[in-house]
Amino acid sequence: MRRIWSDKCIVLGVTGSIAAYKACDLASRLVELGAEVVPVLTKSAREFVGAASFEAITGQRAITEMFEPVQNPAIEHIALATRASLFIIAPATANIIAKAAHGIADDWLSTTLLATRAPILFAPAMNSNMYSHPATIANIELLKSRGCHFVGPESGRLACKTIGPGRLIDVQAIIEAATPLVSGNHELAGKRVLITSGGTREPVDPVRFLGNRSSGRMGRALALAALARGAEVTVITGPAHVAPPYGARVVEVETAAEMAEAVAKHAPKADVVIAAAAVADYRVKAPSVQKRKRDGAPVTLDLIENPDILAALGKSRRKGRILVGFAAETERLLENARAKLQKKNLDLIVANQVSVADSGFEVDTVKGAILDRAGPNEEFPLCAKEEFAERLMERIVALANAESDSSGIGRANFVPGG
Ligand code: PMT
Repeated sequence: MRRIWSDKCIVLGVTGSIAAYKACDLASRLVELGAEVVPVLTKSAREFVGAASFEAITGQRAITEMFEPVQNPAIEHIALATRASLFIIAPATANIIAKAAHGIADDWLSTTLLATRAPILFAPAMNSNMYSHPATIANIELLKSRGCHFVGPESGRLACKTIGPGRLIDVQAIIEAATPLVSGNHELAGKRVLITSGGTREPVDPVRFLGNRSSGRMGRALALAALARGAEVTVITGPAHVAPPYGARVVEVETAAEMAEAVAKHAPKADVVIAAAAVADYRVKAPSVQKRKRDGAPVTLDLIENPDILAALGKSRRKGRILVGFAAETERLLENARAKLQKKNLDLIVANQVSVADSGFEVDTVKGAILDRAGPNEEFPLCAKEEFAERLMERIVALANAESDSSGIGRANFVPGG
């Protein structure tokens, strides 16, 4: 993420909503990611938050007035409109949405929105009735038809004491929605990437299950890395401990059989399949219908094999589809991973060294190697799963480009930075 945001100029437009204070957190997170953030506060926004907070967080002068004595207003908004990598309007009121839709330029922000050709992301926040008013709906549709982007709002309890859609979406979701807009990387544009993630749960009885420690962190990192390259991403996930990646289609499942069914449904359209899930190899043959009681006697569970989802895809490979697996190993890492690469007929496999501290399940970091069919193993040191996901995505794009080169069709499908 840092690599993507570093040195990008983000104009953060803050408009008059009770949620304006959350824009401070957004500004702070963007600065942390390495972006240059220029805060712009409308007159109404300043009824809720002060420019000084944004100036302290961003280290930039907050723009509050159209005509300030020390600037040349005719140049200033045009200059920033041209230099900006992205405009984020958060919170975006019904008023700024209406002004942007109809080309009204009566303050600094609305004027600059007209002048810029940078992508614009609106994060609406308003009363539910205002949000569902036909005028607002029409304005949003009009802006979308012109290429503007929207994230949120969420449903929930609003400041006006009503419950419904209109609450500013979570700051992390705003950042995730914005990332593909600033990445400038379209290597996977038009491609469908299917990712399995999290662990599966196999019922023992109505309240107990056999499961594993997968948190969904790796699948989430991979989904965000693919989205940042313009891919259309579907994540089929078992129960996870992390929020779903914003922008991905998420299919929630519980058991290996449900995951197999969901993969069978979504895989036919996928250009790339990445199996990061920890799928239970076995399930209880006959889970108890009632909660099992202890009676002092030892218990034996009769287990039967689950379908191997990835192996099934490897057997019926579609030409051009890239298949990537993971192998979480506690011993003979490379040997075991290579055996799985061959047995499941994969293009790449990630040998995940789960026997070392802080690598693998539940944690934010990973250590291991990426193996392909022919080349040398690419070992990687303990690193953040986000960083590793970037590395794996680069390998996937390189592989796809090599395949399209060798098939003689050129690189029309996977154009680096195109
Ligand atoms: O979610 P996190 O906490 O971030 O943890 C990430 C992870 C450790 C779960 C992940 O990075 C990982 O290593 N996943 C693979 C876990 C594993 O042990 O896989 P396996 O060796 O059982 O299976 C090999 C491959 O076949 C995997 O790609 C797996 O998704 C797939 N498989 C396995 C069994 C099965 N029935 N169907 C499958 O598709």
